[in-house]
Amino acid sequence: MVDFAVLAVPGVQALRPYEPGKPVETLERELGIREAVKLASNENPLGPSPLAVEAAGRALRNLHIYPDGNGLALKEALAERHGVVPEQVTLGNGSNEVLELVARTWLAPGRNAVYSRHAFAVYPLVVQAVAAEGRAANARPADSDQPYGHDLDAMAAQVDPDTRVVFVANPNNPTGTWLAAEALERFIARVPAETLVVVDEAYAEYVERPDYPDTTRWLQRFPNLLVTRSFSKIHGLAGLRLGYSVSSAAVAELVNRVRQPFNVNALAQAAGLAAVSDTGHVAESVRMNREGLKQLGAGLEQRGIGFIPSVGNFLTFDVREAPGAVYEGLLREGVIVRPVANYGLPTHLRVTVGTPTENERFLRALDAVLKA
Ligand SMILES: Cc1ncc(COP(=O)(O)O)c(C=O)c1O
Repeated sequence: MVDFAVLAVPGVQALRPYEPGKPVETLERELGIREAVKLASNENPLGPSPLAVEAAGRALRNLHIYPDGNGLALKEALAERHGVVPEQVTLGNGSNEVLELVARTWLAPGRNAVYSRHAFAVYPLVVQAVAAEGRAANARPADSDQPYGHDLDAMAAQVDPDTRVVFVANPNNPTGTWLAAEALERFIARVPAETLVVVDEAYAEYVERPDYPDTTRWLQRFPNLLVTRSFSKIHGLAGLRLGYSVSSAAVAELVNRVRQPFNVNALAQAAGLAAVSDTGHVAESVRMNREGLKQLGAGLEQRGIGFIPSVGNFLTFDVREAPGAVYEGLLREGVIVRPVANYGLPTHLRVTVGTPTENERFLRALDAVLKA
């Protein structure tokens, strides 16, 4: 028998693939229950923008035509949003794809990428897949004002002349921690000009802190900056897979060399374009999230359960033991949350902010599980 595993490229041999949240249908089939709720993948409980759904519906009629490989209309809208030109925008099949394209463009054996401990799981994956070295810098202490958040000094200390990429998640998933403008700007200025700094802003629109930066405004000053954004969160289009980056045109041109010609499908392009203009849907999503964070935070506090203060659309809470029993118990109550042991948080679980009803359902389910 041929062992294809040993024939795989070195980066793939030891690769453990990304584990997505459990789909509702899977849980319902496994446990024979109905009306389960999924609060496991940081999706938008409000659903997609109605304008986006309508636009995708119209685009269905032209499914026999390849999408615009350059995604020009959407790029123009995004360029306008960020005050850049369309040549600075790179579209991806989710922002996840852009992260992977960055790794394929700049990383290889002998090169390294720096990220924080407890940072988004895709960074180490895309680095390892191309057999580059991933360097996880120590995070902020659990008792700091940003528990388990990025320690920018520790990250800078890991950068050496072979560091081609630094990944910064702002806010970070699964900690929900964030970086203020001044600290982040100082960090980027300090990183060598030859090292690309990827600032992942998948949850940016949820953040309401006055000192939270819009780093897309810094591109003029930092040619080594690439900012990623997602349509999966605030715009509620996770199922279509759409994200993008904004960078210098020179960096974008390189990333686009490894991109598949039609990586973003026609429905995603049409829906994305409509979603950009639906400011009402964005505002309502932000409002619902703000209320939901308060509801979940107060509920956890009442129950004496500690959590990491979050500016995203999720809360990561500490059950102070291996959370398998609580996770399984919640599943039996029909509530899917996310274990985060693979993020180096072995006693925490992450819950996505849902509708008020879903949040209440989660808290009640937690009561039932903790009582048992
Ligand atoms: C921090 C962060 N970045 C990027 C992504 C990828 O999102 P998408 O590929 O759906 O745009 C996620 C998804 O959960 C995330 O949490």
